[in-house]
Amino acid sequence: MTQLTAPAVPSPATVPADLLGGPWPASARPGPGGEVLVGGVGLAEAAERFGTPLYVLDEGEVRSRARAYRRALPHAEVLYAAKAFLCSAMADWVEQEGLGLDVCSAGELWLAVSAGFPAQRILLHGNAKSPEELRLARRLRVGRIVIDGPAEIARLAALVAADTPQKVLVRVVQAGVVGQKFGFPVEGGDAADAIARVLDQPGLELVGLHCHLGSQITTIEPYLQAVDTLVRLLAEVREHHGVELPELDLGGGHGIRYLAGDAELDLAEFAVKVTDRLAVRCAEAGLEVPRLVVEPGRAVVGPAAVAVYRVLSVKHPADGRCFVAVDGGMSDNPRPALYGAPYSVRLVGRRSEAGAARMDVVGRHCEAGDVLVRDAELPADLRPGDLLAVPAAGAYQLSMASGYNLVGRPAVAAVRDGRARLLIRRETVEDFRLREVGR
Ligand SMILES: Cc1ncc(COP(=O)(O)O)c(C=O)c1O
Repeated sequence: MTQLTAPAVPSPATVPADLLGGPWPASARPGPGGEVLVGGVGLAEAAERFGTPLYVLDEGEVRSRARAYRRALPHAEVLYAAKAFLCSAMADWVEQEGLGLDVCSAGELWLAVSAGFPAQRILLHGNAKSPEELRLARRLRVGRIVIDGPAEIARLAALVAADTPQKVLVRVVQAGVVGQKFGFPVEGGDAADAIARVLDQPGLELVGLHCHLGSQITTIEPYLQAVDTLVRLLAEVREHHGVELPELDLGGGHGIRYLAGDAELDLAEFAVKVTDRLAVRCAEAGLEVPRLVVEPGRAVVGPAAVAVYRVLSVKHPADGRCFVAVDGGMSDNPRPALYGAPYSVRLVGRRSEAGAARMDVVGRHCEAGDVLVRDAELPADLRPGDLLAVPAAGAYQLSMASGYNLVGRPAVAAVRDGRARLLIRRETVEDFRLREVGR
């Protein structure tokens, strides 16, 4: 690791408001000459060293968020949802902080186990797991598999000998949620049927029920309703089958801030209210309280990364708009194009005295919808060569990145205590060419 910048610790009074309490990592601080430090490392300095686009991942922020979950829910099991972003270092950090892992493909599973993550602490998801994925999960001795569809019950049971049972959960979908490709609907009895079929398989050990409500949820009420539904189902399972299932997995979906004024899920409130509701409903039903499992992804890694881009062009068409094109875009962050997801953006590495102007920060791809930040407020003198930083870049960006236009996926550098190290190198055109095996 190379020392890049000595950590500057300005008093909170001198930290610009946009770096405080919003989507930036807690370690974000202003540095000299318009620099912004994250994890004690200057973003502009890191961009010079590693090139752009660059994803700067604050190890301390990931660890403290993982720790906050452990502290808020000491009796629950917290599984980091690897789909938000996974690399070997992430697997190490969450494992060291006491979290398990939720994976949803052979790729995520293999990467985690290769990194040394204990397979017993991994739970495998997926609405369409292939036979090969299930076989790999068995071979690696994955702790639990979440059964998501009817075909999977027989498929998995066929792979399992009764003397080495596979722990499974059944994923259910609450009443009122229609058109869902995941899980078994509770309404209409699909979930109850699936549970009965799983209980009939000697090789499958049903340990609990699972549900995932969606993403960017910032209120507690949907989770409380899920607890009500799931406890009712647990009571039915006991009534019909005489078994009490020991686990209840509420999935993830905990909302984070992308913009300064955004709401986020209050983890402390979630922990208290969900734990209380679970205890109350179980007492009413005369059930033992099952172990709560949660699967936050975005809330662990989202606010921990900042994407740094270099401005390549600034255009002022006659219609009065301004387009700032950067060297990344929808191939490293498809979320704005896919969902209209909002982001904030900031000039780093140069101080500007110019007033603010409204601009669209656009990507470099051949697609009109390749807009990263619409109507951003940036200094009016923004010019090619400037660096722009986009916070809250840690989740569902790199993990959804593509090879569009053969631009290649960006590098990822970890920062901690004033030091930076490369975790993932930039993808090059040679990487694309190497996959070609014929012509
Ligand atoms: C089953 C399951 N668990 C957990 C997550 C993580 O969600 P989030 O990153 O919003 O916390 C997802 C996201 O799609 C999911 O499908």
